[in-house]
Amino acid sequence: MNKHIGILTAGGDSPGLNAAIRGISKTAILSYKMNITGFRDGFRGLMENRTMRLDMSVLSSILTLGGTILGTSRDKPHRMPVGQEFVDMTDVICDNYYRNNLDALICIGGGGTQKNAYRLAQRGLNILTLPKTIDNDVAGTDVTFGFHTAMEIATEAIDRLHSTAHSHHRIIVVEVMGHNAGWLALGAGVASGADVILIPEIPYDPVEIATAIRKRQHRGNNFSIVVVAEGALSKTDHKQYNELKKRKLQAKAEKDAKARKKVNEDLNLFRTQRTNNTLKLSHDLEEMTGLESRLTILGHLQRGGTPSATDRVLATRLGCDCIKYINDGVTGAMIAVKGETTQAIPLEKIVGQRLVVPLDHSWITAARNVGTCFGDG
Ligand code: F6P
Repeated sequence: MNKHIGILTAGGDSPGLNAAIRGISKTAILSYKMNITGFRDGFRGLMENRTMRLDMSVLSSILTLGGTILGTSRDKPHRMPVGQEFVDMTDVICDNYYRNNLDALICIGGGGTQKNAYRLAQRGLNILTLPKTIDNDVAGTDVTFGFHTAMEIATEAIDRLHSTAHSHHRIIVVEVMGHNAGWLALGAGVASGADVILIPEIPYDPVEIATAIRKRQHRGNNFSIVVVAEGALSKTDHKQYNELKKRKLQAKAEKDAKARKKVNEDLNLFRTQRTNNTLKLSHDLEEMTGLESRLTILGHLQRGGTPSATDRVLATRLGCDCIKYINDGVTGAMIAVKGETTQAIPLEKIVGQRLVVPLDHSWITAARNVGTCFGDG
């Protein structure tokens, strides 16, 4: 009997998702005579049994498309919004897996998706995952698809901002995505020759940034480009955040529900109060340096549109290899990029971990060597 494989895309969309869907499906159909069914809108579509038949006509011409033809959502099987409540729908999802006679389910997503997929694997479903996210923060893989495209988009945007910063003798502060990892800000910052790069891994002091900008002024450079990762924190905020995280761990270890609720509220408040962090930094720099400052937030622009050639190739080869692993009986694993090959990494080895930028990473060293300020003095 031909195998029947399900695919879903979950979490934030990312360039290369359609290339992966095509790579998986064409390999399955053409090389392994398998049948493929897509589930719409992530785990929600599997719960609601909303399917999409992925045949050769559907797969034709999706390679270059941004987004995902399957749709996506951030809904989790064990915490599905139903009406006004969150309900554990894992049983319904498992039932639908069997009702569709699936031999395996491929979940394409970032860190959150790996966790959700692992929970389903623990329930006995045959699960493989692929690592995608523009944040590049999935543990166990060299790189995630989507990251390269987002870095190109951010770099091009910063290049454009460079010329206007230069003409107006301004500071331009550019906020890029990346969640709590600095890969995107660092990569785009180095590629675009940013004068200051702020990433979550290196807490910053605004005074240090202002000093670096003033030094540039003294050298005759009356403009500066400051690239800020959305998760970057000042030294003061970082200290407070670490204390909150410690409290959260303690409350969890002590199984203290009341303390957990309180710390979660405090964490939410902390995040809300810092929504306009980058705008505040832009104002502070204007005050401290006397140069006009403008803020640009690149936001979802970084996730949209056609994937780069690098991401198309990466997503295609991950998709193809994933089917090979399924054919070999591999399950409960993420197909990770290891140089020019791939490796099936057991999900339990990577869930709950986040790949942040190591402080001795060559991109940081190179940036420091060419005089980039990280705000850490
Ligand atoms: O994980 C990808 C990402 O774009 C992050 O960089 C960002 O923090 C987040 O998603 C934004 O999520 P949403 O699209 O749900 O607002």
